Amino acid sequence: MKIAPSLLAADWKNIQTELDSIKTADWLHLDVMDGAFVPPITFGPKLVKACKEACSLPLDVHLMIEKPENHIEQFVDAGADVITVHQEACTHLHRVVQLIKSKGIKAGVAINPSTPVSILEDIVKDLDLLLIMSVNPGYGGQKFIKHSLNKISEAKKLIEKNNVDCLIEVDGGVNTETARQCIEAGADVLVAGTAVFSKTDRTKAIGELKND
Ligand code: DX5
Ligand code: ZN
Repeated sequence: MKIAPSLLAADWKNIQTELDSIKTADWLHLDVMDGAFVPPITFGPKLVKACKEACSLPLDVHLMIEKPENHIEQFVDAGADVITVHQEACTHLHRVVQLIKSKGIKAGVAINPSTPVSILEDIVKDLDLLLIMSVNPGYGGQKFIKHSLNKISEAKKLIEKNNVDCLIEVDGGVNTETARQCIEAGADVLVAGTAVFSKTDRTKAIGELKND
């Protein structure tokens, strides 16, 4: 399984030092927020590009933005290795997923806590990643919503039924306890903001999440 620390919880005054501290992680998770799909505004492609230059981890870009189709090209050019869009933000989800894949990178779709996994039945075959939001998107440091564990199991069944190579990622409120539960339920990638960046020893924090 993979750990993807979220830059949202890092100290942005010292981004290079922060990135150097998570070299044992697998991906870097980048939360892009537009002040419309979610209330806060974070950053755009320029910071993604800077992270590409400043660290060697694959970049896992989570777009919490409306009309993501208008920005895919910019994030690909900035160096994204995975781009995840929200099902709730896309009227033409299939088209957006194909656009991402046409750029030669991995395509993911995220669903909010109130969105059922079954909504992805007709798109799962096209996905490289299915992201279960285990908190309502917009903020770090929230409490893990327990029902997400059932959704991870459902996502696993859906993926197996369709016989596709699609990773299950979980985002929000992941700590050592919920990480173990997510892995048992079938998660492949765990996003962790607070659980990594609030600790002084990041290598140890990442190891504990992996249950090493
Ligand atoms: C929330 C973001 C998450 C967030 C997770 O909208 O998508 O990636 O950074 O933060 P923690 O791990 O602190 O819940
Ligand atoms: Zn995220």
